[in-house]
Amino acid sequence: MFFTRPGLEQATRRVVADRRARRLRAAGVSTLADLGCGLGADALAAARTGIRVYAVETDPLTAALAEANAQAAGLADLVTVECGDATAFDVSRVEAVFCDPARRRAGTGRRIFDPNSYSPPWDFVTGLAERVPRTVVKVAPGIDHALIPPGAEAEWVSVDGDLVEAALWCGELAEVPRRATVLTADRAGRASGESVHQLAGSGTSEAPVGAVRRFVYDPDPAVVRAHLIAELAADLDATLADPSIAYLYADAAQRTPYARCLEVTDVLPFSLKRLRALLRERRVGRVEILKRGSALEPERLRRDLRLAGDQPASLVLTRVATAPTVLVCRPAV
Ligand SMILES: C[S@@+](CC[C@H](N)C(=O)[O-])C[C@H]1O[C@@H](n2cnc3c(N)ncnc32)[C@H](O)[C@@H]1O
Repeated sequence: MFFTRPGLEQATRRVVADRRARRLRAAGVSTLADLGCGLGADALAAARTGIRVYAVETDPLTAALAEANAQAAGLADLVTVECGDATAFDVSRVEAVFCDPARRRAGTGRRIFDPNSYSPPWDFVTGLAERVPRTVVKVAPGIDHALIPPGAEAEWVSVDGDLVEAALWCGELAEVPRRATVLTADRAGRASGESVHQLAGSGTSEAPVGAVRRFVYDPDPAVVRAHLIAELAADLDATLADPSIAYLYADAAQRTPYARCLEVTDVLPFSLKRLRALLRERRVGRVEILKRGSALEPERLRRDLRLAGDQPASLVLTRVATAPTVLVCRPAV
């Protein structure tokens, strides 16, 4: 592919674009408008599944590169790139619309957090769903749940544990209220074999709260952002120790793609002195520090612990029933 720096920075990762394209194809889509196509990562993924794509891009250089990318990929017969304003595109020509609005300011490249400043503008983007029964919108993973259009499916996607995007599947494409999609990619950035896992739910259920138990689960960020902690808790027979903090606790360790599991060896109310003494006694010299619901700075804590020893440990800084707490952990076998 041909790239520009801003184009590459905004491009969808291959593994994510491919999966979205396959879902569109499976939903029966054979013609798609990509409104604000950038360098064409999503348009090419759709074309690779056989979808006919009408791509629109306002920036002339980016549009020229998207066209060159379609040619280089041997997909020019399936992708038409038009340099123009997406808001003027006649959507009655296609069965489905995809829009990935620019969330960076042209020129400075600085991130935009207010959807009203997206380009094309948010009103246009959400209005698409009213005009085209099959609309997908890519949005920032930090999107406020209050902005999710009623009836739309909101999906959060992580790749190798990093939260990369959210997508709104509108109209006929909505299958569930909330979904977390957990992907892993091979070195070429493609999905391999068994690498797609999806957890779905209402996004409004609350997980039960209890005591700290033998194992702690640190959920994948897609599960946390999709508000699917209660669904994961039910799968793992787990509970929260604080209703506002997304660590789950259970008596058994289970392999799950949706969370990392650690075995809790000690639970201490947070005190630097007590923690330091415990780690000395255990000859802990290396710690990884996880935190949720704690204002402590991991690097500062690591320095203050003045570790000396040859054993590893994981420290989980959190709150238990509102009290600042540290869990000393080791990998769950
Ligand atoms: C986030 S990027 C798209 C990236 C693309 N999905 C990919 O994976 O390569 C958004 C693009 O929309 C373009 N854009 C912004 N406003 C537009 C408008 N009104 N009409 C057409 N394109 C627009 C920007 O120039 C930018 O290239």
